[in-house]
Amino acid sequence: MRKKVTVIGAGNVGANCALRIADKELADVVLLDIAEGIPQGKGLDIAQSGPVQGYDVSIVGTNDYADTANSDIVVITAGIARKPGMSRDDLLAINNDVVRSAAVSAIQHSPNAILILVTNPLDVMCWAAWQATGLPKNRVIGMAGVLDTARFKTFLGEALDVSVENISALVLGGHGDTMVPITRLTNVSGIPLSELLPAETIDAIVTRTQNGGAEIVKHLKTGSAYYAPSAATVEMVESILKDKKKVLPCCALLEGEYGINGLFFGVPVKLGASGIEKVYEVQLNDTEKAAMAKSAGAVQEMVDVLKAKA
Ligand code: LAC
Repeated sequence: MRKKVTVIGAGNVGANCALRIADKELADVVLLDIAEGIPQGKGLDIAQSGPVQGYDVSIVGTNDYADTANSDIVVITAGIARKPGMSRDDLLAINNDVVRSAAVSAIQHSPNAILILVTNPLDVMCWAAWQATGLPKNRVIGMAGVLDTARFKTFLGEALDVSVENISALVLGGHGDTMVPITRLTNVSGIPLSELLPAETIDAIVTRTQNGGAEIVKHLKTGSAYYAPSAATVEMVESILKDKKKVLPCCALLEGEYGINGLFFGVPVKLGASGIEKVYEVQLNDTEKAAMAKSAGAVQEMVDVLKAKA
């Protein structure tokens, strides 16, 4: 039997997740949105690409959670996206309500599903979905680090004129401008980055990576990125469905790791059939630890706003 993935939110990120899952023939896909007609239309359109692209999975667009029953994975992209001048944090209150209700409805119909959160502000939305559903921590995972790392690798590949596939990089922390690219552990086929680029160039690329989402919002004017976010999400989906056990930077509930307790935060994890199968705690130096603490503080502040409202 084929696997089943539900994608909630048929906007640009959700629709591109559905398309990429179908293109890779990973699972049957249910695309759900509250807007009538949008998931149905996009679902049909993606299904009709099948004969050309050569995939046989089923794609269903719907407004009804009953159609999502028994999904293996539920990807939540629903919520409003950033507009120019808006921070991810401005989205907090609106998206908190959207994500909680989507997560609860989805888990009612798919009690064994693994949740992948994509909605911003990402780290806080993971916490909200975890609180609302009461799922075990291995089954609530946020997509951010794979995207942030992909941006970092893209900029490094350009600066070095080398294949992005040869770059191994680690971006930790919250999905915001306090994210923490660990340049000390970044390398090109084993060659340390510090031996390949001057410090000022590395610093400029780190800053560009930290503002990578905003750079795209500024260009698009009417929305935020979706090609790389959907690619990053589907790498996570694939690692879980195929039990590949990829080690990827994801947003996970920390319980003491990195000195952080009770927050969802970007760290390297092993993604397999059970979801998060291991959280890796990397030894950091004092500068990196301070940057992690600053980033955790930014996430904690938003969680505290939600706790105060509850
Ligand atoms: C980005 C937004 C989606 O990083 O958070 O592009």
